[in-house]
Amino acid sequence: MAKLLDVKGLRAGYGQTEVLHGLTFELEQGGITTILGANGAGKTTTLRAICGMVRVAGDIVFAGQAIAGKATEDIVRLGVAHVPDGRGTFVQLTTEENVRLGAYVRSDKGQVAADLDRVYHYFPRLKERRMQQAGTLSGGEQQMLAISRALMLSPKLLLLDEPSFGLAPLIVQEIYRILRDINTKEKVSMLLVEQNANIALGIADHAYLLETGNIVMSGTSDVIKNDETIRKSYLGY
Ligand SMILES: Nc1ncnc2c1ncn2[C@@H]1O[C@H](COP(=O)(O)OP(=O)(O)O)[C@@H](O)[C@H]1O
Ligand SMILES: [Mg+2]
Repeated sequence: MAKLLDVKGLRAGYGQTEVLHGLTFELEQGGITTILGANGAGKTTTLRAICGMVRVAGDIVFAGQAIAGKATEDIVRLGVAHVPDGRGTFVQLTTEENVRLGAYVRSDKGQVAADLDRVYHYFPRLKERRMQQAGTLSGGEQQMLAISRALMLSPKLLLLDEPSFGLAPLIVQEIYRILRDINTKEKVSMLLVEQNANIALGIADHAYLLETGNIVMSGTSDVIKNDETIRKSYLGY
C-alpha cells in the first residue's frame, strides 16, 4: 500500500529545548497507526509538529508533498485534521456552531450541509444536542464534538490526541467503535497517540512506542501486543 505520511528524522521542541530527537515513522493510506507513550513522552508535540504548530527539522511528507515548516492553515487545506488534546470546545457556542467551525477552510461550501448530516449519522448524540451550549456537554460528548469538527474538513488524515483521556471505559469504547467505523466507511486514515495502549492496540494496525522523544519500538499491533516489555510496562498483565 502507498504511504500517506512519511516522517524521517523529525526533531521538534520549544524554545531551546528539543523534545523530539529524530523520529522516523510512517502511515499507510487507509491505515490506523498509533504512537504509544507515557505522559511527557512527546506524543502531543509529534502531532503539533505534523500540523506546523511547533518549529521542526527533518522531513514530513504527506500525500507526496513536503509539509515540514509549512503554515498550519496550508497543512489543514491539504486534508490533515487535528483533534487536539483538551478537545478545544468553544464553550459559549452551540454544539452545531462548534461542528460547523470545522468547515471554515472549505471552498466547496455546498457540501457542508451534506457533511453535517454525515457527521450526525456517526454521532446521533450530538444531533440531539445540536442547539445545546457546548460547554454543558459531557466530557465524552465534547470528545465526539472535537472529532466531528475535524471530520467537517473532509480530511484524508485525522490526527487524534488521546481521545480516551479522562473518559469512562464505556464512552471510550463507544468513541473507538465510531472511529473504526469512520476509518472503514469514509477511508479516513488515522494517526492516534495514546497512553491507553490497550484501547489503541485494539484499533491500530501498526504501533510505535515513544519514550522521551525517541521511538524505541515499532511493529504490527499484534507483535507489539505480545511483546513482553510492552505487556509489563504498558498493558499491565
Ligand atoms: N508549550 C511547551 N513549552 C515547553 N515545553 C513543553 C511545552 N509543551 C510540552 N512541553 C514539554 O515537552 C515534553 C513532551 O510533552 P508532550 O508532547 O506534551 O508529551 P505527551 O503528549 O506525550 O504527554 C514534556 O517534557 C513537556 O514538558
Ligand atoms: Mg499529550
